Amino acid sequence: MKAVIPAAGLGTRFLPIAKAVPKEMLPLGDKPVIHYVVAEAAAAGFDEILIILSKGKECIMQYFTPNPDLESHLEAAGKQAALEEVRRVSAMARIEYAYQEKMRGLGDAVKIGREFIGDDPVFAVLLGDTVMQHSSPLDRMASAWKTLSKPSVCLEPCPEERVSRYGVAGGREIGEGLFDLTELVEKPAVSKAPRLESRNGSPLPYHAFAARYLFTPEIFDCLENTPAGFAGEIQLTDAMEQLRQKTGMLGVTWPGKRLDIGSPAGLIEAAQALGI
Ligand code: UTP
Repeated sequence: MKAVIPAAGLGTRFLPIAKAVPKEMLPLGDKPVIHYVVAEAAAAGFDEILIILSKGKECIMQYFTPNPDLESHLEAAGKQAALEEVRRVSAMARIEYAYQEKMRGLGDAVKIGREFIGDDPVFAVLLGDTVMQHSSPLDRMASAWKTLSKPSVCLEPCPEERVSRYGVAGGREIGEGLFDLTELVEKPAVSKAPRLESRNGSPLPYHAFAARYLFTPEIFDCLENTPAGFAGEIQLTDAMEQLRQKTGMLGVTWPGKRLDIGSPAGLIEAAQALGI
């Protein structure tokens, strides 16, 4: 199965280092953040991957591309463990790359995947700057697709004071950790933020999108129909709301935790959470 990993953003919260080192290449232990994202996708069976890059972020490509000179050097030096480690990085998945010319937002980045996805009935999107602790929601999302044939978004509880920073979902619980979504809103004011409801109709805490999505290719037409909004950005959430209206959309919770390394504090928190 295929996955798209957007990693083209400017990473302004990580300036000045993001001038030279993409935030997706910052280290968690001895591996860059995006290594964990690719490993997660591949482990869930999404091992044909398109990484969306922008100019100056080519070291992401360099990281995953085999380096024969380095490999023969390690071989000659008898550094077998390092050699195997280096080879494992390139063997995790089949990776292609595409460029986002202008940073027109996440929706625009996903749109670039259209040709790569082709006629595949379903594909995953994983944000390149977010690592999942404990487990990935992708297995649950894929099995929800198998039984209900609906696209899905991963959800996690969101404190009220952060609701206006994320995409937020409203919907009804239809199974353990599974919701039929009725509304998707990007960065709502608290007064307008939708809520999930449990099976007995009681309101649950606010839930925000958690960086993992399972889409049908209809999302591409929805993205084409989504006008650029604030700062010329194409909001993925707006296209998701259109897709929901056409085909329905599920929300999936999972026992893990999202570690967003988009800011210096987030990266430190992630390293602590992973114990590295
Ligand atoms: P963010 O919104 O966190 O990324 O996108 P950003 O714009 O790079 O960050 P700041 O706000 O300037 O600090 C989440 C993921 O989507 C990618 C980013 O690279 C990141 O992995 N992205 C975002 C794109 O690929 N293209 C975009 O236009 C925007």
